[in-house]
Amino acid sequence: MPRIKVLVFSLILLLSANAMFAQLDQLMPVPKVVKPGTGKFRVTAKFVASIREKTPTRADDGVRRFLQRLDGRTGLNIPDFPNTISFPVDGLNVLIDHPGELKLHEDESYILVITPSRMMLEAVTDIGALRGMETVLQLLSVDGEGFYFPACRIEDAPRFPWRGLLIDVCRHWQPMDVIKRNLDGMAAMKLNVFHWHLSEDQGFRIESKKFPRLHQMGSNGDYFTQEQVKEVIAYADARGIRVVPEFDIPGHSTAWFVGHPELASAPGPYAIEKKFGVFDPAMNPANETTYKFLDEFLTEMCALFPDEYFHIGGDENEGKQWEKNAEVNQLKKDKGLADNHAVQAYFNQRLLEILTENRKRMVGWDEILQPSMPTNIVIQSWRGKEALIKAANAGYDVMLSSGYYIDLCQSASFHYGHDPLPADVVLDAKAKAHVLGGEATMWAELVSPETIDSRIWPRTCAIAERLWSPAEVKDVADMYRRLAKVSLNLEELGLTHLRYAEVLMRRALAGETTGPLRTLCAVIGPLQGYKRHGQGIAYSTETPLTRLPDMCVPDPELPREFGRAVDEFLAKSDPIQGMVVKNWLDVFRNNHKELENQAANAPAIRPMLPISQQLQDLSTVGIGLLDMLEKGQSDAARKDQYRLTIEKARTPVQECEIQIVDAVAKIWDKGK
Ligand code: ACM
Repeated sequence: MPRIKVLVFSLILLLSANAMFAQLDQLMPVPKVVKPGTGKFRVTAKFVASIREKTPTRADDGVRRFLQRLDGRTGLNIPDFPNTISFPVDGLNVLIDHPGELKLHEDESYILVITPSRMMLEAVTDIGALRGMETVLQLLSVDGEGFYFPACRIEDAPRFPWRGLLIDVCRHWQPMDVIKRNLDGMAAMKLNVFHWHLSEDQGFRIESKKFPRLHQMGSNGDYFTQEQVKEVIAYADARGIRVVPEFDIPGHSTAWFVGHPELASAPGPYAIEKKFGVFDPAMNPANETTYKFLDEFLTEMCALFPDEYFHIGGDENEGKQWEKNAEVNQLKKDKGLADNHAVQAYFNQRLLEILTENRKRMVGWDEILQPSMPTNIVIQSWRGKEALIKAANAGYDVMLSSGYYIDLCQSASFHYGHDPLPADVVLDAKAKAHVLGGEATMWAELVSPETIDSRIWPRTCAIAERLWSPAEVKDVADMYRRLAKVSLNLEELGLTHLRYAEVLMRRALAGETTGPLRTLCAVIGPLQGYKRHGQGIAYSTETPLTRLPDMCVPDPELPREFGRAVDEFLAKSDPIQGMVVKNWLDVFRNNHKELENQAANAPAIRPMLPISQQLQDLSTVGIGLLDMLEKGQSDAARKDQYRLTIEKARTPVQECEIQIVDAVAKIWDKGK
């Protein structure tokens, strides 16, 4: 089959799979209880929505946005909200008991009943109603007669109360539109905490009116004004999302010292850090002026951010400056502080006094878990699950980020497999109640505003489901089926995770068509973990993020589809699946020549040719193996040669790796 036909054929398979399930089993996160009803509620141009509530709530604006999105999907030109004064109506009816507060443990439950004549969405709070409206939108289905919502009864509430996404706006600056569109994505996935990582070695990203040298000298001009911060908080509030700011201290703080070297534990001058890693500069815990400064600064910030929780970082302070600082060594002696951990605990206690004075609860990375700290702080477990267990047992509230590092480009199934409270967890009921949930972390060493969405979405949907849905919801294949569908829906919110790649490709191709590069990118992924840093390029904040690993996505869909076809072929010797596998391999094999031709006029893609060549070689081997299987041949020498080619295809090129190597290796194994 020619290449285009194969791709169209694959696309039709994918789309028909989506259409087939365009019913109750397309929801993500999966609700607590879903009971199918009989019939369909038809969506027409006369669609109306009505709210019953005692006072205006977030739901009014929520229904307006709901109708806009429904309109955008159906093209029916539905009247804007409010479009009726009656209640109930033969449309969407929202019943709310009272406005919710943006606080931990707020009620987010809802009950949705859809019949062929009307839809009732009942919630204790407006926040629950917002969650319910996202479910309704996901239920939108289509058949020969048009759009409809399937009749059903859904009872839903989250499993965990803290379901967050961290965005680091420091390593690479991420402006307002990135934040807003990702807040919309969070709301669509029922996430409820935006953790805003605002200060780092590489940038101090918020205006301080008290200490303007912080943002003026620590940001290269890229920072959020306080007006913008208020705008983000209001935007998040409207979507039922809390905003928890993080000021990462005493380490990760070089950018503070550019304007305020007196805060550091070694003399300046300091410059904004351009490289990535763990650096020595740390605040001086032995100088009272540090605490006076922090008191004034944190008091300013505590007033700006209404949330009860406030994150002080606390991670990766190696204390190198402290070792050499006479004042810190004197402090150790005076206070009987045995080591740097004890010094940091002392520092944290001083911060705690300031936060408590401002009626805030402290959150920090798991390094702040020190015996001397009171149990009313919250621990964010990132170095492994041990800290979560230890903290919960010791009576601390805790949430999980280990396993949810989305910057590491691991698969959605990897993240999905990490549960804050897995079935085999050894914690008693009291300790379990301290496990609040978790947060996906979007660290920004290797993302620009152009690429960041592709590192957050759609994989964060799998984490959102882990944190919202009942623990029993863990079928990986089913998760991927629904993920493909919700990923498309996220585009309507302005998220660029699917379309951004074409933009990067067009730029790299300098006028050539994107087809061959798109095919290459469909079967490769960026190196996972921290490996991308060790491949020769010394990344800094100034390195362009427009190369091959930026234009391909983590956990691409095609290798998974290919792997499934290979598995089915091998399990059942199914000739149709054999043909699908062979056609794909044929496409990959022939792609190289086309890319090579394009490279003549597009120098930026020349470094990509070696991995394209590897893909060609691997595909040629795959086709050879299929032929051998078909003909029942055995040729030990040829197979040895094939094995070498398969192993060579695992070599990373341009910080990317081919993601169909294991599947081809399985075909090799079959013919052993
Ligand atoms: C961290 O990743 N250093 C919290």
